[in-house]
Parts: sequence; structure tokens; C-alpha cells
Amino acid sequence: MLVLSVMNQKGGCGKSVLTVLLANTLSVDFGLKVMIIEVDEQQTILDVRKMDREYETDFPYPIEVMPIWVDMGKKKEKVLQDFLDKKFEEDEYDLILVDIPGRTDDKMILHALALMDAFLIPLVSDTADRNATLNFCITAKQMQIMNQEIGKELDIWGVRNRLRNRYEEKDFEAFCNQIDLPLFDSSLRELVAYSRFNTYEGFVSNPVHKKDVREEVQAFAKEFINRFDLPVYA
Ligand SMILES: Nc1ncnc2c1ncn2[C@@H]1O[C@H](COP(=O)(O)OP(=O)(O)OP(=O)(O)O)[C@@H](O)[C@H]1O
Ligand SMILES: [Mg+2]
Repeated sequence: MLVLSVMNQKGGCGKSVLTVLLANTLSVDFGLKVMIIEVDEQQTILDVRKMDREYETDFPYPIEVMPIWVDMGKKKEKVLQDFLDKKFEEDEYDLILVDIPGRTDDKMILHALALMDAFLIPLVSDTADRNATLNFCITAKQMQIMNQEIGKELDIWGVRNRLRNRYEEKDFEAFCNQIDLPLFDSSLRELVAYSRFNTYEGFVSNPVHKKDVREEVQAFAKEFINRFDLPVYA
């Protein structure tokens, strides 16, 4: 079981969109057992899920919400840790995606991040996004070193999101090399299809989406499975 957070320090870089996109595609189209945990009082994903009411019956994956505040005297990170330990023992899921607020200035968020096996960092090429990415990469690398000391691996990958034909895109790969962040070969463009994200359908199997969008998502999902050594059922 892989516990992964799509994480960056910048709001709006696509953490929640990519989390939902991956959960849909990997569960519906690739047959993986997936769960989402929202460690966020915003409940973005659960709210979207509630709007998908007509598909309520055969929903392909559960969404748990764990608010970040202290819960009945038990610290949040302990609640998440206990929950993940239990899921690990039950061995029911291939992948747990944990949506964590995009800040690292809070001890509880750092504790939640420390429980992850992997980070997928959505990358947007704007200057403000670069700075946030740089800061998050520093934190992530520090966590990687701390994990190594206790024999735990932390896998870190970046994926380019909201790709547009802009000047800022040109030197972006060089920027990632400079900060020593390994990059997915696949990327996701800035598309309305992604901004209208929902929680009930896979992009690969759904004929509503254009062929090129389905191909883009399929390439992303396949690379995700390979990079993070997830099982292949198809
Ligand atoms: N590839 C994309 N194409 C088009 N729109 C996108 C794409 N990725 C994200 N968006 C849009 O950008 C906005 C922010 O995305 P999202 O909610 O995933 O960001 P976030 O990183 O989770 O932000 P927060 O830190 O607030 O939780 C949303 O309106 C979403 O629809
Ligand atoms: Mg979000």
C-alpha cells in the first residue's frame, strides 16, 4: 500500500484536481483499489463528491475527511497515523491519496507530511509558483534525509500542471534540474476538462472527454503506476 500526497506549498497548483483525477482514473480505468483522505477542513473533494449525487450508488472509492484540528484530546497526526496503520494491516488498498493543506508552517501539517511514502509535486511555471515549489522541495528533501536515517524511503516526483504556451515554460525543466527534482515525462495542460473536475468518472473510459485529453490522462496514470511501483491489473 502506497500512501502519497499530491503536495506543494502553493494554493491553486492543482493538488485537489490531480488527486481526484488520479483516484478516478486509477480506480475506474486501471482497477486499483484507491482511497482519498482529506486532511483539510475545506473539504474540497468531499464537496465536489456531494455534487455528484446521481452517481452515489456505485461510487468507486471512499473519501474520508480528517480535519486538521485537535480531535477529542487526540492530536491530529496521531489520528491520521492510527488510521493509516490500520489500513496498512487490513491490506485492502493499493493507494491512499492524502490531500493536505498547502502550507508547511504548521507542526500538524508537517507531522501529516512525515507519514507519507511519496510526494507528487504539481508544478506550475509562474514565478510565485516556482518560489513555493523551491521552498517545498527543501522541506521535502529534509524529510527524505530524516526518513533515510530511520530506514524509510520517501519518493519525490514533480509533474507539470496547467501547461500553456507561455514564455515561463521555456526554462522550466532547467529550473527543475537545478533544484534536483525528478520530473514525470508526462504533463497536464491547462484545460477546461480538468477545471470541471468531478469524483465519479474515469477520464480514460469516458467518451465525453476528447481523445487527446484521455490520452494525456492515460499517459499520466500509466507513468504514475510505473514510477510508484503500483500493481498492474489490466
Ligand atoms: N490542468 C488544469 N487545467 C485547468 N484548470 C486547472 C488545472 N489544474 C487546476 N485547475 C484549476 O485551478 C484551481 C485550483 O486547483 P486545485 O483546487 O486543484 O488547487 P489546490 O492546489 O488543491 O489549491 P488549495 O491549496 O486551495 O487546496 C481549480 O479551479 C481547478 O479547477
Ligand atoms: Mg486543494
